[in-house]
Amino acid sequence: MSKEIVQIFDTTLRDGEQVPGCKLDREQKLVIAERLDELGVNIIEAGFPISSPGDFKSVESIAKLVKNATVCGLTRAVKKDIEVAAEALKYARKPRIHTGIGTSDSHIKHKFNSNRDAIIERAVEAVSYAKKFVEDVEFYAEDAGRTDNEFLARVCEAVVKAGATVLNIPDTTGYCLPEEYGAKIKYLKDHVKHIDRAVLSCHCHNDLGLATANSIAGVMNGARQIECTINGIGERAGNTSLEEVVMIMRQHPSLNLDTTINSRLLYDTSQMVSRKMGMVVQPNKAIVGANAFAHSSGIHQDGVIKNRETYEIIDPADVGVTESSIVLTARSGRAALAYRAKIVGYELTKTQLDEVYQEFLYFADSKKEVVDEDIHEIVAKSKIAL
Ligand code: KIV
Ligand code: ZN
Repeated sequence: MSKEIVQIFDTTLRDGEQVPGCKLDREQKLVIAERLDELGVNIIEAGFPISSPGDFKSVESIAKLVKNATVCGLTRAVKKDIEVAAEALKYARKPRIHTGIGTSDSHIKHKFNSNRDAIIERAVEAVSYAKKFVEDVEFYAEDAGRTDNEFLARVCEAVVKAGATVLNIPDTTGYCLPEEYGAKIKYLKDHVKHIDRAVLSCHCHNDLGLATANSIAGVMNGARQIECTINGIGERAGNTSLEEVVMIMRQHPSLNLDTTINSRLLYDTSQMVSRKMGMVVQPNKAIVGANAFAHSSGIHQDGVIKNRETYEIIDPADVGVTESSIVLTARSGRAALAYRAKIVGYELTKTQLDEVYQEFLYFADSKKEVVDEDIHEIVAKSKIAL
């Protein structure tokens, strides 16, 4: 049975760029947008056109440049925002307007000083107005994670009737548990009339470290779009990380879901975004961190040298990492030392290895990591006949 495709909506250039200190200039955004298109994302959220003239120009330039992906611009449920977004997107081959409003009681009361019925009215007005400019209109129910499901279903039903093609269910504050978020998506699937006319989308934030788990719970319950960013960057603790959700679907055939992402470009894209934003990738970051395929304990190294699959669930080449690395530390065993010594030119016999290993342990105790140059020094000190 062929797998169902989950649309990847990349918001690195919008939600991702909201990270303090990570502002990109137009040229940098264009380079990233071109790479995202090559990576195979289905939708690129290019910015929030009304927010500044610079953002407007960036969205407009990206709209002209991108060949395959849909290009999307964010708006509030405000007519002027929608007009400006439509203008910025007018050269896009596939334009999408992303409009919406807060739906939780907290947003309705504190942000809008309004009431539920008035919010539904504004949501419908915004979608209907956006439909005058583009066919593809995505609606976001901000703070859907904390919105009561029955009311959320009413909002969704009303905007689908007004022509929304995508329903974005953001866990804006990263509050939901995976079961709760999955149940929310299922509730909407089961209770919104004509739900088949729209795609349900997961937009999860990582305040409790659950963004990826929540997005996967969403697609397991019927959502068919995930909104995410490269390296999981985004407001506060960030958004769902693109590379994580893509590889989860790829590594778990039982989900019967896949994406159009060329995973071999993931590592390089992560590095590119990190450099351009000046935001380092934490070394232990899943999939793209420097240590994601590094093995340092003796037991693991021995296993990986015998067969990679003993401690690796992903072939590093599948995400564009050239090889798994065997890092030499005081916890490494003989197998790792022999492996690395061979790479730098020493084919050691068992007796030679025993001698060199003693010298290695002595050396490694005084260093965090033993690098290739150190191996030459260790072999020389061990005085073995070569
Ligand atoms: O997190 C959120 O709710 C958002 C919306 C504006 C889509 O980013
Ligand atoms: Zn967000």
